[in-house]
Amino acid sequence: MDGVKTIGVLGAGQMGSGIAQLAAVHGVDVWLMDSDPNALTRAMKSLSNSMQRMVSKGQLSQGEGTDALNRLRCTSDIEDFHIADFVIEAIAENEAAKKKIFSDLDKITKDSSILASNTSSISITRIASVTSRPHQVIGMHFMNPPPIMKLVEIVRGADTSDETFKATKALAERFGKTVICSQDYSGFIVNRILMPMINEAFFTLYTGVATKEDIDTGMKLGTNHPMGPLELADFIGLDVCLFIMKILHAGLGDTKYAPCPLLVQNCKTIIASLKCKGIPYRVRTGSPRKRKVVVQKRKQEGRCSNASTSELKVQRGLQVQWWNRRNMI
Ligand SMILES: NC(=O)c1ccc[n+]([C@@H]2O[C@H](COP(=O)([O-])OP(=O)(O)OC[C@H]3O[C@@H](n4cnc5c(N)ncnc54)[C@H](O)[C@@H]3O)[C@@H](O)[C@H]2O)c1
Repeated sequence: MDGVKTIGVLGAGQMGSGIAQLAAVHGVDVWLMDSDPNALTRAMKSLSNSMQRMVSKGQLSQGEGTDALNRLRCTSDIEDFHIADFVIEAIAENEAAKKKIFSDLDKITKDSSILASNTSSISITRIASVTSRPHQVIGMHFMNPPPIMKLVEIVRGADTSDETFKATKALAERFGKTVICSQDYSGFIVNRILMPMINEAFFTLYTGVATKEDIDTGMKLGTNHPMGPLELADFIGLDVCLFIMKILHAGLGDTKYAPCPLLVQNCKTIIASLKCKGIPYRVRTGSPRKRKVVVQKRKQEGRCSNASTSELKVQRGLQVQWWNRRNMI
């Protein structure tokens, strides 16, 4: 495939909006699609702020910032992707939803278009199986946040062609990324290694070997990691960590990937509470104060409009319980 001129990004959440920004800044026309109009409004606001920050830091000239913003278009209609040379899907991590989207994309996009998924863990071969072009389906796993993290992990499905791989690698390199290539096994490379380490940190806490501070400090100073594994689990979201451990456990069939009961238990408790309050969640263990800030920020962004003071208290209470358990008080 010759140079990509237009890409479609599906899902305007945390990852999709970052990928859209990256593409627009690197001279590609972008259609950003989401089924939720509020997600598109939030994404455009955050993209505009982010471009402004890049201009004020001297990373882009005013003209380049304006051009990048002009290259971005939002839509709620997937049919607009008929123009895309390359599509990157970044909707929620749900196999059935991704298969439905890939089946639609297969019908809508040009025969030559490459269809990539930013999935963290779902099999590319299975996603590709619902299309008539499995050789043009590939995993393009950006790290969070996409504009900053240097790595893209490319995942080849069983039928992905060399041409598709080369075009995807060229696009990632055009975005200034370093590429690694994984075969299509659960967790690919990065999560296959990272998530068991995080899970083991939970087991270390669960079995009373050490406090959370000592576990995180041990890994930071003892192995030069910028963040301890428990702090990193907070950053990723405990629900995401649990989901990926379940995928590793089921996909690789080894009990060494069984999620730590402490991770399972606390995800269940916190998710149940936030779900029944109708509050969007990404479960983090962070200190009660930090959690309050996250919820208030979401409230300001309109993501958590019904979070009352009492709801914040419920969440703070849960956080305190969790925090205490983690400290084995
Ligand atoms: N968050 C991370 O750290 C991270 C890192 C790497 C990869 N990923 C992967 O990227 C993908 C997206 O993750 P995220 O954190 O950006 O999620 P997110 O929840 O922030 O955003 C997902 C967006 O997709 C939209 N969406 C859901 N179903 C849709 C559909 N059928 N059609 C159109 N839009 C739809 C939602 O409205 C939402 O705005 C997932 O596959 C995830 O595993 C996430």
